[in-house]
Amino acid sequence: MVNLLETGSYLAALETEYMGHDPFFLDETGSTNDWISFRLPLPGIERTVVAAERQTDGRGRMGRKWFSQPGGSLAFSVAWPLPERLQQQPGVVTLAAGVALAETLEESFGVSPALKYPNDVWISGKKAAGILTELKGGREKKFAVLGVGINVNIEQSDFPDDLDTPATSLLMETERRTEREKALAHFMNRLEPTLELLANGGLGDIMFRYRRLAEPLMGWEVTAHGVGEVYTGVAEGVDDDGSLLLKTADGTIISVTSGQVSFRRP
Ligand code: BTN
Repeated sequence: MVNLLETGSYLAALETEYMGHDPFFLDETGSTNDWISFRLPLPGIERTVVAAERQTDGRGRMGRKWFSQPGGSLAFSVAWPLPERLQQQPGVVTLAAGVALAETLEESFGVSPALKYPNDVWISGKKAAGILTELKGGREKKFAVLGVGINVNIEQSDFPDDLDTPATSLLMETERRTEREKALAHFMNRLEPTLELLANGGLGDIMFRYRRLAEPLMGWEVTAHGVGEVYTGVAEGVDDDGSLLLKTADGTIISVTSGQVSFRRP
């Protein structure tokens, strides 16, 4: 068994009002998103964060598998009760979480992350972190379950050869080991006010922050798979409502909100 995250040093770095106050640091589970989803009826679930060293069914977006390294990765989930005003556009929660994640890595660890729409965090052209957001709950109460994977203390040689996206880690980028507890607490410290801002009508402000982080990928060629349709164009911007804007070959601007989006350097 590898060392689990240490609750004392995590709590010492945590400055949130409520989010993540009652952490569960597990050795193994299927997927932390499932772990928390099964417990949504528990009171105070929004105070919890669950992290696991091993996920036997860790998954990424688009049904992909998610690689994590016991002792080297952060793989965790939080459940956020979805406010009424966001129930028609839950996709923006994942964009806000992406902003919080990229800003945390930038500010606390001195790297220069870029957001690849919707919420992959890239550093030096490789993927360092990702977020899988799943909507759960019943008619009366809905939750956004945010599952976050961060490559923290992982060496290049630890990554499997068959990853579909080239990967990097904080260790590879900074040549320093990062205290995982601190990284998790710093993310929670930023996630809570970002989601509060979103709940209080601050989507425009969050998208302003998003655009700065997404800037490095503007001008790249994009293929977006919608329902039964494929769109191609050049990434032109990200709208205040959270859609990705593409300029097609005939100069038309189209907006894409979700689905599989792949970027290629021009
Ligand atoms: C992606 O970029 O495709 C999203 C990756 C999300 C991985 C995390 S690890 C913790 C949580 N549990 C899962 O099964 N997936 C998410």
